[in-house]
Amino acid sequence: MNKQNNLTLQRAISAMREDVAGADPEIQARFAVALHHLHAMLDELRLTDQQLYAIAGWLKQVADQDELIMLCDMMGLTMRALELSRTDTQATPQNVTGPFPKDGIPEGPNPCRLATDEEPGQRLELKGRVRDAETGRTVAQAQVVVWQPNQFGRYENEDDSQSEDNLRGKLRCNADGEFSVLTIRPGGYIIGREDTAIGLLMKQLGRNRERAPHIHYRVVHPGYRTLTSQVYFAGDPTNPVDCIFSTIEDHIVEVAAHPVHKGYQLVELDIAIEPETAR
Ligand SMILES: [Fe+2]
Repeated sequence: MNKQNNLTLQRAISAMREDVAGADPEIQARFAVALHHLHAMLDELRLTDQQLYAIAGWLKQVADQDELIMLCDMMGLTMRALELSRTDTQATPQNVTGPFPKDGIPEGPNPCRLATDEEPGQRLELKGRVRDAETGRTVAQAQVVVWQPNQFGRYENEDDSQSEDNLRGKLRCNADGEFSVLTIRPGGYIIGREDTAIGLLMKQLGRNRERAPHIHYRVVHPGYRTLTSQVYFAGDPTNPVDCIFSTIEDHIVEVAAHPVHKGYQLVELDIAIEPETAR
């Protein structure tokens, strides 16, 4: 049976009625698009009922392992959705949030010492300035939240050897929109365990599971769209093979020897946030 005479698809679409209580035309329209694509996939793959049930079971397994977002990430859907939702090309693009942000981190001073003296790794100062994407003018007093893994690519909430809230911080920009985070250079990491549904799929697909080293940050200011993004480091060999395709050029920053702090590297970050009125 070809696509043209897929009567089941036609019936599934016409089963959506507009004249019943609770019907939502927008959801109906979007569901119709999904039906078209899903039926086309079934047709192209010539899926049997048993194969369809196997896929449903597999998706349940992914959900039970809490890896549905990872599935979106590894398919490139998350990055594509972020691209599609970009409303201001002058603003710093959003990037994947990931599973590791945490609420309730207390606000500390600026500069923020994210790494203790005992934390192993290459010392790094992340020096940022926040400005308005429309006017270019400095945005004072924005709140900045930063989180990152250690030099071995481990976040504190998945690693018992690290103290609570290690390598996490919250600070406020000064009147000139500036902030400074004194930290260490993070290591990259592997997403998904091999024994999970996604891990096994990636193995079967011959896919690399590596995430390029990065620091996550979020910038919050009243009147502006909250920016959740990441910093990647120029020259890192894993940037081109990042397994969720999030190492876009706008987020790759140069790393220089620090002109003042001995033993530190310096990363300068220019962050442009989007006024709410621009949406
Ligand atoms: Fe991450």
